[in-house]
This record gives sequence, C-alpha cells and structure tokens, in this order.
Amino acid sequence: MTEKDLKTLLASMTLEEKVGQLVQCNAGLFIETGADITGPEGEALPAEDLCRAMGSVLTFENAAQARALQDMHLEKDPKKIPLLLMLDVIHGMATTYPIPLAMGCGFDDDLIAECADMARKEAAAAGVHVTFNPMVDTARDARWGRILETNSEEPLVNSRMGAALVRATQRDNLADPGNIACCVKHYAAYGAGEAGRDYNGVEVSERSLRETYLPAYKACVDAGARLVMPSFNALNGIPSVANKWLMNRVLRGEWGFEGVVISDYNAVGELVAHGVARDMKDAVRLAMEAGCDIDMVVNAYYTYLPDLVRDGTVPEKALDEAVMRVLRLKNELGLFENPYHGADSEAEKRLNLCPEHREIARHAAEETAVLLKNEGILPFPKNLKSVALIGPFAAETRLNGFWSRPGVEKDTVTLPRGLLNLLPDLELTVAKGCGADLGDRDESEITAAAEAARTADAVILCLGEPENDSGEGRSRADVTLPGPQLALARAVITANPNTAVLLFNGRPLVLTELAEIAPAMLEMWYPGTEAGNAAARLLFGDANPCGRLSAGLPRATGQYPMPYNRMNTGRPKPQPDSGVFPFTSSYLDVPNLPLYSFGYGLSYTTFAYEKLELSRAEISKKDELRVTVTVRNTGKRAGKETVQLYLRDLVASVVRPVQQLIDYRKVSLAPGEAKDVIFTVTEKQLRFWNFDCEEVSEPGEFELSAGYADHLLLTRRFTLTD
Ligand code: NOJ
Repeated sequence: MTEKDLKTLLASMTLEEKVGQLVQCNAGLFIETGADITGPEGEALPAEDLCRAMGSVLTFENAAQARALQDMHLEKDPKKIPLLLMLDVIHGMATTYPIPLAMGCGFDDDLIAECADMARKEAAAAGVHVTFNPMVDTARDARWGRILETNSEEPLVNSRMGAALVRATQRDNLADPGNIACCVKHYAAYGAGEAGRDYNGVEVSERSLRETYLPAYKACVDAGARLVMPSFNALNGIPSVANKWLMNRVLRGEWGFEGVVISDYNAVGELVAHGVARDMKDAVRLAMEAGCDIDMVVNAYYTYLPDLVRDGTVPEKALDEAVMRVLRLKNELGLFENPYHGADSEAEKRLNLCPEHREIARHAAEETAVLLKNEGILPFPKNLKSVALIGPFAAETRLNGFWSRPGVEKDTVTLPRGLLNLLPDLELTVAKGCGADLGDRDESEITAAAEAARTADAVILCLGEPENDSGEGRSRADVTLPGPQLALARAVITANPNTAVLLFNGRPLVLTELAEIAPAMLEMWYPGTEAGNAAARLLFGDANPCGRLSAGLPRATGQYPMPYNRMNTGRPKPQPDSGVFPFTSSYLDVPNLPLYSFGYGLSYTTFAYEKLELSRAEISKKDELRVTVTVRNTGKRAGKETVQLYLRDLVASVVRPVQQLIDYRKVSLAPGEAKDVIFTVTEKQLRFWNFDCEEVSEPGEFELSAGYADHLLLTRRFTLTD
C-alpha cells in the first residue's frame, strides 16, 4: 500500500477501530498456548470483541498458531487489517543460543549477528513479525535478575552488539517474509533500579543517563529498530511510559525515531500503582501524551481511549498519528498482501534444530564460556578412563536460561550426553550431591557424591544457580552460590583434587570461597541447546576457551553497583588493592576490585602484549590516531585473544572514569604467532557529557591502554590539541 492508501484506510476507520490498532492482547486469550495469563488482561472484556478490535498479539509459539490467530482475527475485522504478531525471541527460538550476558563475553559482534540470523529464520518461520529484542539495558548490579538479558555492563558492548542484532534480524527489507522487526527495550535505564530490585525506581543524573544508559538504545534506533519499549521503572520520578522528556524530547525529537512505541506488559495500567495517575483513564491520557502507541496487554486503551478522544482530552490527531505508525509498520512488513508473513510449518520443521543451527549454537556456547581459573588441570586428557559428573547441574536439562522458549529443554544436550558424544567409552558416574535452590539445606547426599569423586580419574563439578532464579522479577539480595553447593564443593575437591568446576548461572555470582579451593573453574552461563557438547569439547580441549567477562564478578554482594569504569575519588585507594587503607575510598572487609574484572578470561594458551604504538603524539579534532597493539600467542595451542583498548582522560572539567573501553577486537593466533591489531581513535571517542550536559571533548592529555580492566598492561599517552 502507498502512504495515501494507508491514509484512506485510516479515514475509513471508526474511533473504536483506530483504538483497536493500539491494543495488544495475549494470544492465550484466543488459542491454547500454554502461557499463563496474569494480571488484569481481558477482565470483563469478551474475547470475541477483543479479537475483532485488537491490532496485535503477543506470545504464541508456532506457525500453526500464527496462522490460526490471523485467520480468526481477519474473519471478524470488517476492515481486514492484519494483526501484528510479537514474541520474545531473545536468544533463539527452537535452537537456543547462550543468554545475552554470555554473548557479551564472546566480544564478537559477528557472532551475535550469526546467532540472531539463525533465530530470525526460525522465528520468521513460526510467524513472528516483531521480536521484543534487543534488550540493551546497561546493568552494573547482579542483584538485578535481568542482568542476564543484557550483553554487558559496558555501554559500548551493548551498543555494538544491539545494533548488530538489529541489522541481522531486520535485514534490508521487512516485507521479505524471512525478516522480522526489532523492538529495542527497555527504554531507559531499567538496569539501574535502586538496590538491584526489579521494577524499582531509577535516580540518575541526565549526564550519566546520556553517557552510560542512553547510547545503547540510540545505537539500536540508529541501526533501524522499528519499535521501542519504554521500561517499567520510574526514571527520575516519572515512569518511562509516561515520560515525555524521554519519549518526545529525546527519542522522537533528538533521535528522530519514527517507529512504534509499545508499552511493557501492563505498564500503562501500572501508572496508577506508581501513583502518577488517578485512575486507569488518567493513565491512558498520560501514556498517550508521552507518545506510547501500543498498550501491551491490558485493557486500558481499549476501555478508556475512545472516551478520552471523544471528550477532547486526547486530540484525535495524536490518536491518528499513533495508528498511522502501526499501520505503516504492518505495511512495511507486507502484511496487507501477505498477513502470514513467514509463517510456514514446513519451513519450521526444516529449520528448527537443524544441524546447521545446532552447530551455530554449539560454537556460540564455546566462544562465550569464560575460563576463570586453571591450575593446569584443564584440558583433561582424552585418555581418562572414568569421570564423576557431580552437582545439581550435572544431569540438568534446563540449561537454556530465562526467556528460552517453553519446552526447549527436551532438545538440550545434557552434560552426560555431551561427554559420551565426545568420548563414548568414558566410564561416567553421575551424582547430584545437593540441590541449588535458595534455602536448600539438605546435605545428606554430599558424602555419597564425594565418594563417587574419590574413585574417579577426574571430576566435573557442575554448580550454579537454577534457570529460574535469574530473569524478570528475580532479584536477589545476596548473589552467592545458593543451597549447600559450597559444602559439596569442599567435600568433592578434598576427595579428588582433579576437579574442574563448571558454572551454570544467569548472573555474575560471588565465587570468592569457591575460587580459593577449586583447581579449575569454567563459567558456562546458560549455554543453550548445545550445552553438553560445548562443555565436553571445552573440557577436553577440542575447543579452547576464549570468553572474556562482559561484567565483572564480585567478591561480595555489597560491592554492587560495581562498574569497571568507576569514577575516581579524591581519596582513591592505593594500588595494589590489598590491605586496609584508612580514610581512602575502600572497604574494611573486602578489596575494592572485583574477584574477576571486566574483560578477564583465561585460555589454554598464553598471550603476551608486546607493543602499544601510537601513530602520533598529538591529534587535532580532525585527525585520526592509529593505535597498534602487538599481541603474541606464547603458548603451545592455537587460541583467541580479545584485544581491549581503554581510554583515560587525565584532566577534564568533570570527573572521568579511571578506565573506559573504547574498542575491542577478537583475534585468532596460532602457537608462536604475533599479530598487530590496529585501532583507529578519533576525537569522537574522547567525548563525554560535561556539567552543562553538552557532549564535548576537551583538549589535553589522554592515556590509551591495552589489557583488561584493572590490569592494563601497556599504556601510552597522547594529546588532543585545540
Ligand atoms: C515484560 C518484559 O519486561 C519485556 O521484556 C517483555 O518483552 C514483555 N514482558 C513481553 O513478554
């Protein structure tokens, strides 16, 4: 359709029909999806009416459901305006790849794109038009259970990876039934909730909002994301869905976003609980004024918007603009011509879990695992006769993580399966040892597990945090290993020191005590469908770990929030970070630095940073500075190193971070091989938000360093001239 056709369509619509385009319902109201429908949705509203009027649905599972929903609606809608079908396709569809936080540890934008491309194909075949992805909430607090949904604590990583995901998902032409639209979320600063509690308010200055939190959403908007979802939280006192500054001024004004804004689940209705709306009707007014186009799954718009337009509280023009944005998106997706888009059960069968997709998922799981510690025991030799596989995650199928699609665990390669795929003759004993639930105190099986450990050649001890303990609404006040897992670790490692710990968790955990006793620790996160195969290959050296932490791991929960790019203080703690230094910015009971810093990760080989060279000592605002980092593989195996470039602005008009990642590149190196990794630095990367909230660079001296956070190995200075 042309823009003119869309306007003609709009002009033909009744007020109720227009409002319908802004209403989103849960698919489970109309078909059997197995989803729990919670909240006030659909209360007192006949599903029949909703089905006719609604403009979009969310949460369905496959092509058959997609087609049924579309048919059901089109049959009832006199205007025959197709539905938009939306789903949270976060880290895969049928084939699950590692959780986003793990993907961040890959430090590889192409890897994200490859995984997103795979998810796109499976999701499009399932009939998805819009995915609620990417989530780019920069998070520095692992108490917040949704930290697993973000790639990193670092805005640059979130920006680059979010944009890569958008490009790989939408590609160039949304009308192509293989492509789907992206909804970037949760705008804004949802990850900065006070005390790490989900849905909690965020108080952050405009300066740090612009510097730390907004860039990743903007990068996704710039990459073409067609939808934006405001966050649940109040930002500096105003819930995002009603935040005119955030939406009208910044998003639509400064960034020129022309796409669709969709509220988060029931967020319009929650304006009443927030205490900024008198009642639901008032909530609708506030959301419409802030330019929220679609009301996700509550009947607020459906019930109250027509009256608000009729009595002039909401101008009809505002309604029309919102509806036009929705119609344009439908048109761009080609739905008026082909309302099913890519929904195709045959394609689903062909694509879902096909060998090529499993291969991508396995590779991603291998690339994102982080080797935290290794006292020379890994990789295990393949001639081991017997292995004891111990721990609450030893035989677990739920290794996919929050937001994996329902039922995917049945296709997950478990650890026993993965180990036997690699080494069919291995004598494998499996013992759970204990549970990992919060509050689990039962230690009765630990002795038997230790006994199994004692008699095996090697032990793989699988610890972590249950799949459902991280994710939405899953904040914790204490992010240590839950249940009696430490007691299990002590008993097992004492019984057999040839023990490697595998960790399965969705958030950074406090591993301080475990790190003291474990000879080796490999952080697997939630690796997805190919968990067992990837773990086996990593443990036995068919794959060499190369993940680097995209969020530091704390020594104690009390260190949160714990950004690696912290600001300096007037009384910095002297380095090295050991001992107590009274009257400095420090703790009496733990060091300041994380247990494992941002950017850290080991390999089965070693790397040496030989040189850091700058092409010049001074640059003007127009110049480019060429930075050459020479890195060598000094070990005996091929491996990958993520070369990280950090900046420090030595003197500025406002306090600047002690280190800030400005570029990264992952390189493969054969044994003995050296490579020059060349970065280009321009004035743009030296900018920051000054006290008056202007984005500026200031002349003066800067440092560039290579290494990882808090462990910068080589440093050079240069000057930015006027
Ligand atoms: C609530 C979550 O906050 C959001 O991330 C998700 O996309 C929606 N529900 C839809 O499931």
